Amino acid sequence: MKTLKIASIPGDGIGKEVVPASIDVLKTIADVHGGLKFEFVDFPWSCEYYLEHGTMIPEDGLKRLTDFDGIFLGAVGNPKLVADHISLWGLLIKIRREFEQTINLRPAKGMRGIQSPLLNPKDFDIMVVRENSEGEYSSVGGTIYQGEDEIAIQNAVFSRKATERAMRFAFDLSTKRKKHVTSATKSNGIVYSMPFWDKVFKDVSKEYPEIKTESQHIDALAAFFVTKPHRFDVIVASNLFGDILTDIGAAIMGSIGIAPAANINVNGKYPSMFEPVHGSAPDIEGKGIANPIGQIWTAKMMLDHFGEEELGAKLLDCIENVTGAGYLTPDLGGNSTTSDVTIAIINQLKTI
Ligand code: NAD
Ligand code: IPM
Ligand code: MN
Repeated sequence: MKTLKIASIPGDGIGKEVVPASIDVLKTIADVHGGLKFEFVDFPWSCEYYLEHGTMIPEDGLKRLTDFDGIFLGAVGNPKLVADHISLWGLLIKIRREFEQTINLRPAKGMRGIQSPLLNPKDFDIMVVRENSEGEYSSVGGTIYQGEDEIAIQNAVFSRKATERAMRFAFDLSTKRKKHVTSATKSNGIVYSMPFWDKVFKDVSKEYPEIKTESQHIDALAAFFVTKPHRFDVIVASNLFGDILTDIGAAIMGSIGIAPAANINVNGKYPSMFEPVHGSAPDIEGKGIANPIGQIWTAKMMLDHFGEEELGAKLLDCIENVTGAGYLTPDLGGNSTTSDVTIAIINQLKTI
């Protein structure tokens, strides 16, 4: 029997709705599968926790997470209670950084029964490899002067190590897919980091002569995501470009509520963290209508990560059977609830 110890952090807003729903799904998979067991431990770290304790996680919080095989996170952020830069850097980004989760892997694909806003979407199935540790999200900078002369300086940091690592991850992934990697660049406008990015891309691509490559400027790439998503397979992007591109990916799938993600620790030193692309959606919190598919598909990425690819594929198939049968939450134009969709997926799983 394989037992996976998972730390669950529902976080804020709809995280507290979609994480328990996904845990029910994972428990069903374990029951159906037989050889797999999950042990979940819940951590209440959130903006409410911050109001009570003055910190997003306890001092030994990260240490407590290291013993887990994986971290299953909902979403962080309640700007009405705590400023985003405090809550996100105190929990989500802290875990990504401290646990060296240097890759953020984010798929976008056409789904059965879900209408894409694209007029005639051809089959698209994209995997964005987002560099997750530096780039535009560096904490190098500061503010100088005061008053009307005040200036904020934000530096973007691109190291060869992290850039190569993201690119190798993308190339390795593409060997199992369509053998095509697109680099998101902006070397026409950004004079240091992006020419460097292009140079590293060229260097790494030489190690993979069988993989076709192309570079696209991020602005054009964003447009092609909308007009010709089927042209792409694996895309490697810097932290910010990858962040923006994957929200576009979510939008062309049909809703940000269905887009999954995995923050991967490549060196195996720390647990990886699985959290969907969407945030805490304060506007629909407590209404019971949050789409649980982003979080459930994220659970599929967690299964894949632990070598349970067959189960992962079955789970995605069950999700698509459910969307194909018309169980859609309001963000997809339907009137199903979070629990309708979750129960339908659980019922599907029982038939596999
Ligand atoms: P958001 O993703 O929370 O919401 C954007 C829009 O998408 C909203 O209209 C929301 O209702 C909708 N939406 C999102 N997820 C949905 C779902 N599962 N089902 C149905 N509709 C869904 O983005 P935002 O409004 O920019 O951010 C809200 C808070 O979440 C902020 O504090 C932000 O910083 C935080 N945030 C956290 C994460 C994370 O923890 N990974 C990611 C993004 C944003
Ligand atoms: C995401 C989010 C985060 C990011 C925010 C909340 C800091 O948008 O996970 O995509 O930019 O990485
Ligand atoms: Mn984002």
